[in-house]
Amino acid sequence: MLSAHNIVAGYVDEIDILQNVSVDVQEQQITSVIGPNGSGKSTLMRVICGFLTPKSGQVLWDDTDLTGRQSHTMAGLGICYLPQERTVYPHLTVEQNIYLGGWTFRRDKARIRHELSRVYDLFPMMQERRKSKAGNLSGGMQKILEVARGMMIRPEILICDEPTVGLAPIIAKEVYDTIERLKADGLTILLVDQNVREAIRIGDQIYVLEVGQNKVNGTRAEFEANQHDMIKDWLQI
Ligand SMILES: Nc1ncnc2c1ncn2[C@@H]1O[C@H](COP(=O)(O)OP(=O)(O)OP(=O)(O)O)[C@@H](O)[C@H]1O
Ligand SMILES: [Mg+2]
Repeated sequence: MLSAHNIVAGYVDEIDILQNVSVDVQEQQITSVIGPNGSGKSTLMRVICGFLTPKSGQVLWDDTDLTGRQSHTMAGLGICYLPQERTVYPHLTVEQNIYLGGWTFRRDKARIRHELSRVYDLFPMMQERRKSKAGNLSGGMQKILEVARGMMIRPEILICDEPTVGLAPIIAKEVYDTIERLKADGLTILLVDQNVREAIRIGDQIYVLEVGQNKVNGTRAEFEANQHDMIKDWLQI
């Protein structure tokens, strides 16, 4: 489905942040990428989503080579990317933010209306708050709003970089529940998360990066059985 093979990439010529990293994402699964701060998780997502061209390696989407393809073409391929940084427009309403998810087909008013009502069916709480300023939502709700906005393009894959960072556990749970619900609806998810236990709990496949390299990867069952050995150095457990 989506795969990154042997990616070497960095921000300046001399320093390779990613040193031969590979990740395979299976359809309709959650693939979790975990790893310490600075291990290159966000850099990998930027490479996959066309914000950073790798020095070598390949990004494949089914049979299409995405390597070096521009980021703004991703939505048209069914790829929705939510970066680590907050991206809601706080002074716009919830509904205006969701509208912006349909920017590429904004002139097709019927389609916008149709997709908006689909998004509201998926996220009734967004419909309830549709006239609120997005900046007045809680951090967790803002993240769920970003996901809702992303659903306007009916993506095949949601790539989500640290959606729960800085959220209280009870609020983070709503974000994880949302991700699991979308998976149950058939969406494929590539998730980066700093919360190792949650990333393993909801992940079907788990990849651990360490200093820009693949450290270990496996299924949830493998991680649950061997978690202690697989990530002990890093968690110091
Ligand atoms: N825009 C940038 N320009 C230069 N160096 C960068 C840039 N973004 C990240 N880096 C460096 O690349 C390395 C990997 O960063 P990256 O953000 O990919 O890690 P991460 O695993 O996502 O970390 P975190 O868990 O903190 O989000 C770090 O050493 C970081 O300082
Ligand atoms: Mg990051």
